[in-house]
Amino acid sequence: MEDKSHGFHILLVDDEAGDAEILLRSLEQELADDENREFDFTVVARAEGALKVLEEKEVHLILADVRMPGIGGIEFLKRLQGLNQFIPVIMISGLNSIDTAVEAIRHGAFDYITKPFNPKVLAARIHRAMRMYEILHQNWALRRMAIQPEGFETLIGVSPAFQTLLRLVQEVAPVRSTVLIVGETGTGKELLARAIHNLSPEHEQPYQLVDCTRFPEGMIESELFGHVKGSFTGAVVDKLGLLELADGGSVFLDEIADLPLSLQARLLRVIEDGEVRPVGGTRSKKIDVRFIAATNQNLEERVSRGEFRKDLFYRLNVVTLRVPPLRDRAEDIPLLARHFLTQFAREFGKAVTDLHSSAVTDLVAYKWPGNIRELRNVIERAVMLCTGERLSSKELSSLLPAVTGEKTGHASMPGEEYLHLPYSEAKQSVLEAFTIRYMKSKLATHGGNVTRAAQDSGIPRQHFQQIMKRYLKNSE
Ligand SMILES: Nc1ncnc2c1ncn2[C@@H]1O[C@H](COP(=O)(O)OP(=O)(O)OP(=O)(O)O)[C@@H](O)[C@H]1O
Ligand SMILES: [Mg+2]
Repeated sequence: MEDKSHGFHILLVDDEAGDAEILLRSLEQELADDENREFDFTVVARAEGALKVLEEKEVHLILADVRMPGIGGIEFLKRLQGLNQFIPVIMISGLNSIDTAVEAIRHGAFDYITKPFNPKVLAARIHRAMRMYEILHQNWALRRMAIQPEGFETLIGVSPAFQTLLRLVQEVAPVRSTVLIVGETGTGKELLARAIHNLSPEHEQPYQLVDCTRFPEGMIESELFGHVKGSFTGAVVDKLGLLELADGGSVFLDEIADLPLSLQARLLRVIEDGEVRPVGGTRSKKIDVRFIAATNQNLEERVSRGEFRKDLFYRLNVVTLRVPPLRDRAEDIPLLARHFLTQFAREFGKAVTDLHSSAVTDLVAYKWPGNIRELRNVIERAVMLCTGERLSSKELSSLLPAVTGEKTGHASMPGEEYLHLPYSEAKQSVLEAFTIRYMKSKLATHGGNVTRAAQDSGIPRQHFQQIMKRYLKNSE
């Protein structure tokens, strides 16, 4: 008895109906010997048809002619990458199109085979591609399971850069060492900090977040270290500091570069001695806290300018996790977009279930100066506006800055829609659009570097960051 454990769907794209027919027959014959799988085939004449099939059915392998009318082989591969990077593609090439076949490999094709070919050879190549497909899927599923303990927000990303980062997270999380997370705004630093805590043996102990930009200098000291009653005006009762509250667990020092110099020295002492003393207090208390810090600034530069203590920098820099910007991991864009789409569709009770391939192409082409947070915001608004089941590039176009041309990511100003709104709402909507456009443009010009973008805008960096948080950040 044959044990056919699961079906394997092959999509064949060939404009020569005769060729496709012969290929199909010989393949069916060759693959019939496979005892573990059943194969089924879909044949389409053009790449456009193939993209349609992909939107409707699960496909495990694609065989496509290099030369096709309409969307050619290379363009097809590019679109495919935006859709589902897990489908291996074997390109079929004539002897006179081998150059293109080689180029196809550069664009992500798994393999190519030249006509006329031996069906046995093709069957062997198909088996190889199938194995790769299965391994990739298993890997992906395993990694996702491993990084997603219960009640923990999913960390999405399959790009090599992100996977390397996740491996590092898994390595450092169980060790109670200090971790410094660096990366542009909106890349997921906070989420990673949380992941490190959640994956540590102390995950049931407290986790405290300290946003170093949020408090004025005087207050952050008492927030961190606590104070004793009467130590300053307003200190009417004893107050425990966040460091003490985190005893046994982790403290996440967000935007550490903004910690005032005077407090940097105190923090260093806490890290070194494991002791805190509240403001106005006379006695120190031992605490056991793991420190995770994050910044979107270049700390080395700040150290060299004397704005950040070198000794503290070295203390924090034991393990550094660099979160890559979204533009350097384009493979993750469609995945993240679909993830947010599902999330917001559920939240808003919308029927939209997927992205149209044109929308994927636009999302991948955009440079995302505000990174994942910006992508999340765009998808949130798009879902709100979407009326159909599939989000189209048209529905994205008003939200997504023009991606053609220089691709710097400038958001467009609103048209005259605001004329229909009451005055205060109209003013707010125009101002918001202006601010978003302005901030994004400055950030894009400076490759996401907030310090330089702020300098260029002529406003203090802290103020720039607040505006960014307000307008480029979701309602958190
Ligand atoms: N890998 C990921 N998978 C899914 N969602 C993510 C991922 N990374 C980030 N996000 C989401 O993107 C948004 C921004 O992430 P987060 O706040 O962690 O970024 P950040 O680097 O701390 O930004 P900032 O520098 O502005 O503080 C959040 O809504 C977060 O849930
Ligand atoms: Mg953050």
